[in-house]
Amino acid sequence: MSRALILIGPPGAGKGTQAKRLMDRLRIPQISTGDMLRAARAAGTPLGLQARKFMDSGALVPDEIVIGLIDERLREPDCSSGFMLDGFPRTLPQAQALDALLGKLGRKLDAVVLIEVDEEPLVARLSGRRTSKVDGRIYHVVTDPPPPGVEVFQREDDREEVIRERLAVYRRQTEPVIGHYDEQGLVRRIDGSGSVDEVTARIDRAL
Ligand code: AP5
Repeated sequence: MSRALILIGPPGAGKGTQAKRLMDRLRIPQISTGDMLRAARAAGTPLGLQARKFMDSGALVPDEIVIGLIDERLREPDCSSGFMLDGFPRTLPQAQALDALLGKLGRKLDAVVLIEVDEEPLVARLSGRRTSKVDGRIYHVVTDPPPPGVEVFQREDDREEVIRERLAVYRRQTEPVIGHYDEQGLVRRIDGSGSVDEVTARIDRAL
C-alpha cells in the first residue's frame, strides 16, 4: 500500500475521520495542519495567536506559516516510513513548496486521495461535529454521538456562517491544487457520501 499520501477535499468531507483509520492500518503518522494550528492556539504560542484570526473567520493562514510547520514536521524520524498529509497543501504555492521539500528529502508522493461530497450535507456534518478532548476522536451529535462520559468540544469555526466561508475558500484557493496533482497522475477520486465504513472501503480499493 502507498506510504506518502495526501488527503484533500472540502471542509467536512471526512478527511480527519478517514485519516485516523488509515493511520492505524498503515502505521504512518497523520499530519494535520489544522490540528497543529489548533494546538499552537491552545498553547498560546505567538504562531497560534497569529493563526487565530484567520481560522476564526474561515480564511486560510498565510502560506509561509504552514509551509514552515510542514518543513519541520516531515523531517521528524516518525515520517521516515511514510506520512499522511491532512489539510495540506491547500494553495498552489503550498503544493509547489511541498514538491520542492520532497525533492530535497528524496521522497515522492504515492497518491493524492480526493474525497468528494456535495456542499449541502457538509454544513450539517460540520455543525454537528464534536471532538473528544482526550484522544481527538471525531463524533457527530446525530450520526455518531459521543458515548456518555466522553468529554467533547465544538470547534470555533464550525458555525454556519464560517462554514460557508470555508467552503468558498476551498473552491477558490484549494480546488486548483487538484489540477496540480492531476497533471502528475496522482489523484484518486473517492465518493465521500454514504457511511464512514463505505468511504473507508472505497479508499482501500483506490490505494
Ligand atoms: P482543518 O482543521 O484542516 O479543517 P478543514 O479542512 O476545514 O476540514 P475539517 O477538519 O473541517 O473536515 P474533515 O474533512 O476533516 O471532516 P471530519 O472527518 O472532521 O482547517 C481548519 C482551519 O485551519 C482552516 O480553515 C485554516 O484557517 C487553517 N488551516 C489548516 N490547514 C491550513 C493550510 N494548509 N493552509 C492554510 N490554513 C490552514 O468530519 C466532519 C464531520 O462529519 C464529523 O462530525 C464526522 O463525524 C462526520 N462524518 C465524517 N464522515 C462521514 C460520513 N461518511 N457520513 C456522515 N458523516 C460523516
